[in-house]
Amino acid sequence: MNGLVLEVDRAQTADREDFRRAVLDGLSRRPRAIPAKFLYDARGSALFDEICDLPEYYLTRTETAILRDHAGDIAALAGPDCALIEFGSGSSVKSRLLLDAMKPALYAPIDISREHLDRSIVHLRRDYPSLPIEGVCADYMTFAGLPPLSASSSRRIGFFPGSSIGNLEPHEALAFFRRAWALLGENGALVLGVDLKKDPGLLHAAYNDSAGVTAAFTLNLLRRMNRELQATFDLGRFAHEAFYNPVAGRIEIYFRSLGEQTVTVAGRPFAFADGERVHTEYSYKYDIAQLRKLTQAGGFRLDRVWTDPDRLFAVAYLTAFA
Ligand code: AVI
Repeated sequence: MNGLVLEVDRAQTADREDFRRAVLDGLSRRPRAIPAKFLYDARGSALFDEICDLPEYYLTRTETAILRDHAGDIAALAGPDCALIEFGSGSSVKSRLLLDAMKPALYAPIDISREHLDRSIVHLRRDYPSLPIEGVCADYMTFAGLPPLSASSSRRIGFFPGSSIGNLEPHEALAFFRRAWALLGENGALVLGVDLKKDPGLLHAAYNDSAGVTAAFTLNLLRRMNRELQATFDLGRFAHEAFYNPVAGRIEIYFRSLGEQTVTVAGRPFAFADGERVHTEYSYKYDIAQLRKLTQAGGFRLDRVWTDPDRLFAVAYLTAFA
């Protein structure tokens, strides 16, 4: 174990055995589905970083601009001496905007990818030498404990950027808010980034980029199965598919079989019909009223919402209530 990382719940991390079980289970069910967390191996995380810079993927730059404009407002609401706990920290780029404005007593990034976590902590320690940092390698959906927090920190502020909340189904999102509430405590608050409902054409483009990076991100799951589970997926015989479902208010992402074929995974054969899909991700889009309702059910009051001029994306400040 890397000394930088506090391992909280080893059984919950996306290790190979978890992956094998999830894939065999997901391919044996109908409709077929593999949980989105397995998209983020080292290459998948790097591809996702590339997605964030794509011209069609407005989410990252829009959220970053909102945070840049309102980090001071967030810091004023949070108050001094807080502990900033980031759920799914990735490369921690956006967190720097909050770190600079809030000057917290502790920063605790939680991330499922150990490589990502290690790398971002090394960079943060270099750039913020006096900031106590306690990284946690865990899946934030099943995260069961808190790292020891500095005695001087008066308030726990969660940070859940990137509209990762949209990758959870509404019942999972509710469970996340309840878990976050328990973690942050009655005096806590949560800064949440959420992608908003909008013109489906813009959404379609964001998940079907012209450079094919999102397709490579989806199909990387097949590579990962080939490498880690001795699977025999031919990457030229499956395609990325993403579309907006307006009734459910979500982008749906799949890999689709181009023709009838049989693939072996961990020694087991799986037959695919022509056009058969395997679900990999949902990305729910919210409006403010839906968000208010959902977060309230999870124990949070929607205190402030900041958006960009085109109302593409929202950053919300949520206060935990008793
Ligand atoms: C991480 N998450 C918020 C991304 C999204 O937009 O739902 C994941 C993604 N998948 C394909 N493109 C982006």
